[in-house]
Amino acid sequence: MNKNSLNKALSKLNIGGLRYFDSIGSTNDEALAWAAEGAKDLSIVIADEQTQGRGRLNRKWYTPKDSALAFSLILRPASRSHLSRTVGLAALSIADSCRVLGLAPRIKWPNDILLNGKKTAGILVETVWSGEDVDSLVIGMGINVRKESTPPEDLLQFPATSLEDELGKAPPAREEIILSILNAFIHWRTRLGADELIKAWEEILAFHGEQVQVQAGTGNPITGELLGLESDGSLRLNEVNGKSIIVRFGDVSLRPAVIK
Ligand code: ATP
Ligand code: BTN
Repeated sequence: MNKNSLNKALSKLNIGGLRYFDSIGSTNDEALAWAAEGAKDLSIVIADEQTQGRGRLNRKWYTPKDSALAFSLILRPASRSHLSRTVGLAALSIADSCRVLGLAPRIKWPNDILLNGKKTAGILVETVWSGEDVDSLVIGMGINVRKESTPPEDLLQFPATSLEDELGKAPPAREEIILSILNAFIHWRTRLGADELIKAWEEILAFHGEQVQVQAGTGNPITGELLGLESDGSLRLNEVNGKSIIVRFGDVSLRPAVIK
């Protein structure tokens, strides 16, 4: 993967601009800086390797060279409507591109894509504010493509895998995969406010109808049946006492409940 091969692969898309790096700290940091300098809508920062790739709360995102897709999209939303659905839009786009490869992705709400119950991709959405208004959004996506991109087990709190391991053969070139993700993204973006997006997101939620445990911050975990999504993309659970609970976005970790 290099700047030429990427430019060629993405030439038919109407992107705002492309910055390619052989190695970078974090594509999200570069995209946040570019957005603040006035990057156009749908500009992309992509790197072959990240040395400071990050997930939520600055947790580390492992991105060794030559093996993963790590990129950040800059969006300049025309309105504030439905922006809370952005992580779902990104997750559906990655999921669609996995399905094209014959895989069966699940979305572990809010920001991870699982294959065979293992984490293959993660999303980190960050906002650039202009006073009370959203100036731009940076959507970071990390996808484990080749098996070398799967982190060693001791770095993980949740099992991980790669497209290569799940396909059982060499995956397509990363240029092809990002093209497929961006095509799906452009498709779903025009439907950001549609019920169809929530329905498609809900249909592939991991643990749907199962007992899950949600850890938010350092508080006591909530346990309940995963019922589905609210219209803003929040998660709806049914506690054992029958009470319905809405879990909003934030630093929330979802796990299958341990049945005692
Ligand atoms: P989880 O539910 O897996 O704890 P999370 O979504 O709450 O994840 P994040 O901060 O979003 O946590 O993700 C960062 C975590 O992902 C890291 O702490 C690490 O365990 C794991 N991780 C890091 N790099 C990769 C990777 N390339 N593939 C899969 N998992 C990774
Ligand atoms: C998660 O924690 O699951 C989200 C991980 C997001 C990783 C991507 S890789 C491209 C972009 N740059 C970063 O530093 N993080 C995101």
